[in-house]
Amino acid sequence: MSKFDITPDNFTNWYVQVPKIYMIWPARGIIEEMYEYYTKLFRERMVEPFANLDNLISARQMARIKKAYTGTNFEADKNMLINVYSFIGITAVHLSIPPFLRTHELFGSPLNTTADYCSPFEFERAFGSSGNFFEFDIVASKHNILTCNPPFVEDIMRMAAERLVSELDRAAAAGITKTIVITIPVWDPETQRRLRLKDYGMPFAAFDILKGSKYFLEHDVLDKFKYRYYDYYKNKLIPACFSHLIIFGNGRPAITASEVKKKWLAAAKHF
Ligand SMILES: C[S@@+](CC[C@H](N)C(=O)[O-])C[C@H]1O[C@@H](n2cnc3c(N)ncnc32)[C@H](O)[C@@H]1O
Repeated sequence: MSKFDITPDNFTNWYVQVPKIYMIWPARGIIEEMYEYYTKLFRERMVEPFANLDNLISARQMARIKKAYTGTNFEADKNMLINVYSFIGITAVHLSIPPFLRTHELFGSPLNTTADYCSPFEFERAFGSSGNFFEFDIVASKHNILTCNPPFVEDIMRMAAERLVSELDRAAAAGITKTIVITIPVWDPETQRRLRLKDYGMPFAAFDILKGSKYFLEHDVLDKFKYRYYDYYKNKLIPACFSHLIIFGNGRPAITASEVKKKWLAAAKHF
């Protein structure tokens, strides 16, 4: 079995996301079709260039992956990367915190990061990835500040919240201080009502876990139109959603919410 074969381990990063995206499509059969295509990508390692494959990413993304590459066959790995994210990523995983903190992005891909980063697929290590977030050792990281902007998928956000708490428990036990800058959407009814947004009345487990933790140091809400997310594909800022900005950490925080907001707005001026 090649390491590119689909396994429960590597697909669990996406199994929640894929059905959720395609469930909203009227034809239910599309889910099976998409799963089949997705597994084929890995099974057959689809690295053949389709027409204009390179045009699917921006010049900035291309420069980034070229610079980060440490493998032995850039053409094949680049084509695999674009194939995988063209299928799975463009609609759901590309929006980013504008690049302003040269730290470690706990959720990312070679196509939407500028700093050190984790990403879901093993083959992305050739592009400098530190591997899957759920296996990444935050305590051993050289960075004091790390950012966490997970896919906006409830189960992934809940699992990420649980893991951040356990990683900070380990950091505290080791006497090491870490600060995590987290952004997640305003999906809790309380904040939705306070902001007069549509209240879906749904519990938001990830936010509850973070808020209930002793590592929840500071909190603010980011206005959708003022704090826009960066789209690496289009090289522009998008007013995606109102977000919780959470400074999460053990010990004294290495950055405050107001510093993050200031840097966010300053970075946005460049786009
Ligand atoms: C909202 S984007 C984050 C974009 C940008 N890197 C940032 O931090 O703002 C979420 C990213 O999480 C990545 N992702 C999904 N599962 C992951 C996992 N298990 N480990 C690391 N990254 C993962 C996706 O590839 C996607 O690029």
